[in-house]
Amino acid sequence: MLISTLHGSYLFCALTKCVECSSEASELADIEWDNLGFGLLPTDYMYMMKCSQGGNFSKGELQRFGNIELNPSAGVLNYGQGLFEGLKAYRKEDGNILLFRPEENALRMRQGAERMCMPAPTVDQFVEAVKETVLANKRWVPPPGKGSLYIRPLLMGSGAVLGLAPAPEYTFLIYVSPVGNYFKEGVAPINLIVEHELHRATPGGTGGVKTIGNYAAVLKAQSAAKAKGYSDVLYLDCVHKKYLEEVSSCNIFVVKGNVISTPAIKGTILPGITRKSIIDVARSQGIQVEERFVPVDELLDADEVFCTGTAVVVSPVGSITYKGKRVSYGVDGFGAVAQQLYSVLTRLQMGLIDDKMNWTVELS
Ligand SMILES: *Cc1c(COP(=O)(O)O)cnc(C)c1O
Ligand SMILES: *[C@@H]1O[C@H](CO)[C@@H](O)[C@H](O)[C@H]1NC(C)=O
Ligand SMILES: *[C@@H]1O[C@H](CO)[C@@H](O)[C@H](O)[C@H]1NC(C)=O
Repeated sequence: MLISTLHGSYLFCALTKCVECSSEASELADIEWDNLGFGLLPTDYMYMMKCSQGGNFSKGELQRFGNIELNPSAGVLNYGQGLFEGLKAYRKEDGNILLFRPEENALRMRQGAERMCMPAPTVDQFVEAVKETVLANKRWVPPPGKGSLYIRPLLMGSGAVLGLAPAPEYTFLIYVSPVGNYFKEGVAPINLIVEHELHRATPGGTGGVKTIGNYAAVLKAQSAAKAKGYSDVLYLDCVHKKYLEEVSSCNIFVVKGNVISTPAIKGTILPGITRKSIIDVARSQGIQVEERFVPVDELLDADEVFCTGTAVVVSPVGSITYKGKRVSYGVDGFGAVAQQLYSVLTRLQMGLIDDKMNWTVELS
């Protein structure tokens, strides 16, 4: 028998029971929910909305997930005029879905768009589009405890330009993919190497916005680090080569006693929403937080170091290597402070504790 698959192609299937697995009406997609990683798994729908330079975004709509068409001269392809965002949706035990601070992603995209000379959706347009996209792909939101739906909004110069200039047309797009819990097989602390030659960002540059060009630029240092067995790279400021900045795609915190310190936002580090939330959670737990210049030397006598970002939430750092010298934090999994913060934040995001912060948005 021939049955239609989700993506419009046809699949020959001899088993009657396959008919059920192609039904979009079912509560959950028929996949191995226990084996989710952090790779792209195509879902049913994506959201698209366009606008011309100087205009406003309007008439966004859901489309079947699939390839998009771009003029070879599109601004995003030729000059990197593009931004991305990342957030997650969790399924609660009652079946409702929780988004975490989506308006923060909307605001960050608007700030990035200003830097990159692009028009951006309003906060309402952004949040509504995220909600619509998640609900249309509801069956791809993993069951409680199995992971989350990763939501990836993009903003790009899709219009054709030849000379260097802002594109004449922009596309806002959202796609989603189910992802597993980062620490599926237990918490594995990451091992970082401090990079003191290549830099991720410069004062006056674009390190503080989530523009696509910042990421290809770190691949070289990241690949070299991985080839030597490290998990990722920790960047230093490019002026003094002395102060911590961040990891390729997450922010960093250093714990000493009852104080946690993190580099202040000053244009060269990405203002993480997890970073900001962890700062608030820490203060609510009576932990002192300092946002300041953090010299690389402080890594030497730190009690714990951890990273924050949407994908990992909180990731403990097991060791940091700087100019050939390795400092270990002697933790097998989480240190006590990172553990406490991870636990409070993830339970809040998953709807397991009362959201006194009013950070979650519930969809049913
Ligand atoms: C996205 C990102 C982060 C983390 O931001 P969140 O909002 O917490 O996900 C940190 N650093 C960089 C460079 C990033 O791109
Ligand atoms: C875009 O929206 C703003 C605010 O709603 C409005 O003032 C402006 O006139 C609109 N521009 C266009 C070209 O429609
Ligand atoms: C909670 O946050 C939402 C935005 O997500 C806002 O509209 C609402 O007014 C807030 N409620 C309270 C009680 O602050």
